[in-house]
Amino acid sequence: MRARRYPGGVKILVLGSGAREHAIVLALASDGADHEVLAAPGNAGIARDAALVDVDMMDPGAVTEFAQAHAVDLVVIGPEAPLVAGVADALRERGIPVFGPGKQAAQLEGSKAFAKRIMQNADVPTGRATHARTIDETAAALDEFGAPYVVKADGLAAGKGVIVTDDRAAALDHAAAYLPHGPVLVEEFLSGPEVSLFFLSDGDTVRPLTPAQDFKRALDGDLGPNTGGMGAYSPLPWLADGFGSIDAFVAEVTRTVAEPVIRELDRDGSPFIGLLYAGLIITDEGVRVIEFNARFGDPETQIVLPRLETSLADLLMACAEGTLEEHAAPTFRDEAAVTVVLASEGYPAATITGRKITGLDDAEQIDGVHITHAATAVENGALIATGGRVLNVVGTGSTFAQARERAYEAIGRIGLEGGQFRTDIAAAVATA
Ligand code: AMP
Ligand code: GLY
Repeated sequence: MRARRYPGGVKILVLGSGAREHAIVLALASDGADHEVLAAPGNAGIARDAALVDVDMMDPGAVTEFAQAHAVDLVVIGPEAPLVAGVADALRERGIPVFGPGKQAAQLEGSKAFAKRIMQNADVPTGRATHARTIDETAAALDEFGAPYVVKADGLAAGKGVIVTDDRAAALDHAAAYLPHGPVLVEEFLSGPEVSLFFLSDGDTVRPLTPAQDFKRALDGDLGPNTGGMGAYSPLPWLADGFGSIDAFVAEVTRTVAEPVIRELDRDGSPFIGLLYAGLIITDEGVRVIEFNARFGDPETQIVLPRLETSLADLLMACAEGTLEEHAAPTFRDEAAVTVVLASEGYPAATITGRKITGLDDAEQIDGVHITHAATAVENGALIATGGRVLNVVGTGSTFAQARERAYEAIGRIGLEGGQFRTDIAAAVATA
């Protein structure tokens, strides 16, 4: 492994408050160098591994002022909302290194129409889609593509903007709910396994991370409502069947998806500095993009970063400073990683928060287990759940069977009244 660029450590501010940001903080802290990691707003778990600071992550002026006043070397933006709010632009204007795209490039996630235009111009494989401005146009597009129907709201909708259904009336109702706010996208249904693949970019050079799969539905067997993600695993050994090897798959998607998109965004005048998240479906006709995000995925990050061998701080800094070309592709430990999300009762429809969490220390005693916090706070000395997805229990091991067993044994040791989790995360690969 190459020598670390910043052996004495740098001062890094991580913006966000979920398990993804906790995973980023943990990866920076275990980097081998003595970094000073700050986080805002953070949560009770992040507070154990970083210093929480009081700055409004949605306020570009406030973040910039804080970073300057405290001589922050690098700002890492976790969620999409501050990206779309222009926090990265404000930092970059003042010359502060930031990992995260500007407002315009973040439209790749913020606007499905923008993403489709970029994909079209870059000749990236994606499903056929039509923009419908009225209910009649929606109906015509639904009939053109046929069932199952896919209708998407154009803007950020926190995972609620997409419906995939055989019920034409439900598809029309979904469109009717979003049409007052702008056009909706009616898309061809794509069938096949889903893969999340992340790419680092400094606006020019692209470096892939490693594929992962998340479980978006609330219940076992991919039933129930869509959620932010109830679990994930990495790597995806079955990719070798269709592509020869995981590396060959990654190389193909880098060449056909990530590089053309990064080039097109640059041509478009909005260079993408940060993490390009490609949401893919492997169809019988080949790889298709279903969505892009402009940030690390959640919960995939929680199982991708623990496998990363390369220094995360070096990589993120290289993106921010435009020197990624000098870095080889990051490497990953050859181990299995599984994360299971523990969610509050009622999530996602009617989340009950404020309940006590117990047993974390006991759960973390298990070999190969660590826990990242998604929504926790300390109240009167007790750890409580403050949101829908509460914890990510991560198990690693030499096999998926071992990683799973560890994660599930750990989750069994955690107390949260009404807490729910899926029991089938990575089950298929553990028996393969
Ligand atoms: P998105 O917000 O675009 O990621 O969509 C959320 C979920 O809807 C995806 O993870 C897929 O499971 C599903 N989905 C989205 N677009 C399609 C499509 N064209 N065909 C099949 N499933 C889709
Ligand atoms: N894992 C889905 C997302 O981060 O959007």
